[in-house]
Amino acid sequence: MGSRKSVCCGLSARELIFAVLFVLMTAVSVTLIALMATETHTGPSPTLPPTPEPQHTPYLIGVGRADCTGPPAEIPLMGYANPQQNAAGIHTRLFSRAFIIDDWRKRVVFVTADVGMISQRLRLEVLQALKLKYGDLYGQDNVVLSGTHTHCGLGGYFQYTLFMMSSKGYIKASVEPLVNGIVKSIDIAHSNMRPGRIYRSIGELDDSSLNRSPHSYMNNPEDERHRYKWNTDKQVVVLKFTDLDGDGIGMLSWFAVHAVSMNYTNLMVSSDNMGYASYLLEQDKNPGELPGQGGFVAGFSSSNLGDVSPNTKGPHCMNTGMPCDYLNSSCPDGGTKECKAFGPGEDMFESTRIIGENIYKKAKELYANTAEEVTGLLHSAHQWVNMTDVTVQINNTHTVKTCKPALGHSFAAGTTDGGGDLNFTQGAVEGDPFWDGIRDALVGEPSNETQECHYPKPILFSTGEMNWPLPWHPQIVDVQIITIGSVAIVAVPGEMTTMSGRRLREAVKQELQSEGAFKDVEVVIAGLSNIYTHYITTFEEYQVQRYEGASTIYGPHTLSAYLQQYRSLARAIAQDRVSELPIGPEPPFFEKLFNLLSAATVDRKPENSSFGDVLQQVYPIYRQGDVVLVTFVAGNPRHSGDIRDKTFVTVELYDNRTSSWEVIYNDASWETRFQWLKGSNRESNSTVEWHIPQTAPSGSYRIKHFGHYKQMKGLRPVITPYEGTSDVFRVTKSFYYQ
Ligand SMILES: *[C@@H]1O[C@H](CO)[C@@H](O)[C@H](O)[C@H]1NC(C)=O
Ligand SMILES: *[C@@H]1O[C@H](CO)[C@@H](O)[C@H](O)[C@H]1NC(C)=O
Ligand SMILES: *[C@@H]1O[C@H](CO)[C@@H](O)[C@H](O)[C@H]1NC(C)=O
Ligand SMILES: *[C@@H]1O[C@H](CO)[C@@H](O)[C@H](O)[C@H]1NC(C)=O
Ligand SMILES: *[C@@H]1O[C@H](CO)[C@@H](O)[C@H](O)[C@H]1NC(C)=O
Ligand SMILES: *[C@@H]1O[C@H](CO)[C@@H](O)[C@H](O)[C@H]1NC(C)=O
Ligand SMILES: *[C@@H]1O[C@H](CO)[C@@H](O)[C@H](O)[C@H]1NC(C)=O
Ligand SMILES: *[C@@H]1O[C@H](CO)[C@@H](O)[C@H](O)[C@H]1NC(C)=O
Ligand SMILES: *[C@@H]1O[C@H](CO)[C@@H](O)[C@H](O)[C@H]1NC(C)=O
Repeated sequence: MGSRKSVCCGLSARELIFAVLFVLMTAVSVTLIALMATETHTGPSPTLPPTPEPQHTPYLIGVGRADCTGPPAEIPLMGYANPQQNAAGIHTRLFSRAFIIDDWRKRVVFVTADVGMISQRLRLEVLQALKLKYGDLYGQDNVVLSGTHTHCGLGGYFQYTLFMMSSKGYIKASVEPLVNGIVKSIDIAHSNMRPGRIYRSIGELDDSSLNRSPHSYMNNPEDERHRYKWNTDKQVVVLKFTDLDGDGIGMLSWFAVHAVSMNYTNLMVSSDNMGYASYLLEQDKNPGELPGQGGFVAGFSSSNLGDVSPNTKGPHCMNTGMPCDYLNSSCPDGGTKECKAFGPGEDMFESTRIIGENIYKKAKELYANTAEEVTGLLHSAHQWVNMTDVTVQINNTHTVKTCKPALGHSFAAGTTDGGGDLNFTQGAVEGDPFWDGIRDALVGEPSNETQECHYPKPILFSTGEMNWPLPWHPQIVDVQIITIGSVAIVAVPGEMTTMSGRRLREAVKQELQSEGAFKDVEVVIAGLSNIYTHYITTFEEYQVQRYEGASTIYGPHTLSAYLQQYRSLARAIAQDRVSELPIGPEPPFFEKLFNLLSAATVDRKPENSSFGDVLQQVYPIYRQGDVVLVTFVAGNPRHSGDIRDKTFVTVELYDNRTSSWEVIYNDASWETRFQWLKGSNRESNSTVEWHIPQTAPSGSYRIKHFGHYKQMKGLRPVITPYEGTSDVFRVTKSFYYQ
């Protein structure tokens, strides 16, 4: 940015020039709609219409959404690390949603994507693709990528061994749709940049979240806890984006809750509760459009959700119906496995619907009532930090250090939202000789240094000391803040607990305000951003070593280290000295990654049938509220290649005025479920469910299924498209059995 010479009133020459341009631009911005920022700097318009009242300079705003769904079959779903949870169909599609904001001098990009988390690999590949297309316009400093934390998206997009182990390696077929979908959402936002305004609104949402480690939370200092009414953050922060006519073009919000309403028995790709909130608001604002279409983009971003569950009936022992043990979340006769959190619905679909609807309704209300305009310049600050090697001065006499990454025993216990299969429990501060023995034999003993550094965590995997075939955990981590006027977005590389997030927000706010600016700044935490490093608890929470503490991989002072790093970014922004921040050590980009997913086999079909034939037919008549079910002879969805912007399913309504079939739902629709089942004989079938809404018009309907199958022609595999169509059925208000 160069040196900063003060010209007048605390403004640099550059800022002064931009301030003047701002005023000019406000007046003429309506006529500038088609012009890009660089073209508008060429000179003032000679005839400026008088502005009726002083107005803030508009920003340039672009919003975009793109499908990022990968092949929904055989690839492990990312989140529960359950080896049985491999994709087998689509509940709802996954989308990437991009928001680009430009203050005519600087540009920032925020992306929230329906993925478990952004991985370092994914981010590096997205940044490479952006560089090829846009040069230096979009880079590591001004692009934030955040995941919604759905646990029903595909895995396989990681470069560190631990994550590759749980998702069958690095899977190109899984990575490509994510990279291409994210980049496409940015392309769309980039190409529709227009002058517009941003408004901010903050409210609270009750009955939609629950602290799943209250025992850890209670270990935080009493005076700190007393400053807060709840043990989870209830606030919903909404940004409303409009064009200059005041018409809404998009919404971006943050709320802290795990996207785990869908549990690990679900095998269909799903955007879970946060994705459903997006779905509902977009359906609302893009009337008549199929899901994923229409200009209005609604992003629901994750936040400090580390200890926050959406399963609001709380944990119970499935075997006895009694509450689980408060300290270690185990049950008599069954340990951790039997302790599960449920609710608020009767099943996981209903729970997803209720939580998603709650978040959507609150955001919609805040969106409708926003009055507070967001104004002011944009900033961004980014650094790479070696998180294994941060020293923090915690008081006048003591410095502390972060550690090489390691996971504790309670990591293997999982949480009450989805537990581990073995006999680990949460809250373990002592190892188990049995498992330690196995660990030592398989991957080696943790060094004494690492054990001491992580104390009181009993180390299960000393991932920082495991480098075969590639490092098991990252050392180099992104820390990043972008500010949009009075909103600061802190991109956090993992899952911060409620209290960690509060401390971080407070620290960032303090630093931003240290120079007198940013008076009413609202700091939000964008979770699961840029790279995944598991959890970040407070030092006090860490001491009791529940799942979140056991998964705080850089040791007890991880949060202190982050507070220091983010403070330094915020101070640099406040002092306008971002350019002086060292970039930090660049993360590695491993060339030789392993892939354990075998190629999809050829498809077989029952004798005398064809792909697409109906195996189980629809009934002739249904009423609203019923579920239509039809099963087709199918091919492996992996043979369909790049499935973005396509569909495996349509529900079609006969329009007898035009004598044609109209697609009213597809596989992205909440109302449809597409399930793929493969038998041991390599024959597979696709079952399509349509949950008929109460509002469905009476009429004639049919369901279609689209796919591809692979067969060998001699030695050559050939992939052929097919489609199948159900019988026509009627949906009526009255109910007849025929
Ligand atoms: C969990 O804690 C309870 C005491 O609260 C204890 O009785 C029980 O043995 C513990 N369970 C396990 C598996 O450690
Ligand atoms: C998952 O949800 C289904 C209902 O949708 C329920 O039957 C099942 O018990 C749940 N499983 C777990 C492990 O929570
Ligand atoms: C990170 O820091 C550790 C400890 O100083 C060092 O051994 C390691 O090489 C560093 N990693 C990188 C990638 O610079
Ligand atoms: C500094 O922190 C250490 C470690 O928490 C503590 O033992 C020590 O008492 C503190 N010193 C002061 C002066 O607060
Ligand atoms: C877990 O199971 C192993 C093997 O059965 C046993 O040796 C070990 O003691 C068990 N650990 C706990 C905490 O129950
Ligand atoms: C850790 O220290 C103990 C006692 O000092 C020693 O016996 C042991 O070999 C050390 N372990 C490792 C892995 O260095
Ligand atoms: C398949 O069709 C042939 C010829 O029509 C018939 O002989 C055979 O029985 C059929 N097989 C089955 C399983 O229906
Ligand atoms: C077309 O729709 C109208 C209105 O629902 C109905 O009265 C008519 O019978 C329909 N015609 C056919 C051919 O289905
Ligand atoms: C679909 O395939 C599964 C697995 O082979 C099988 O169990 C099921 O019966 C099939 N469904 C139909 C309707 O044929």
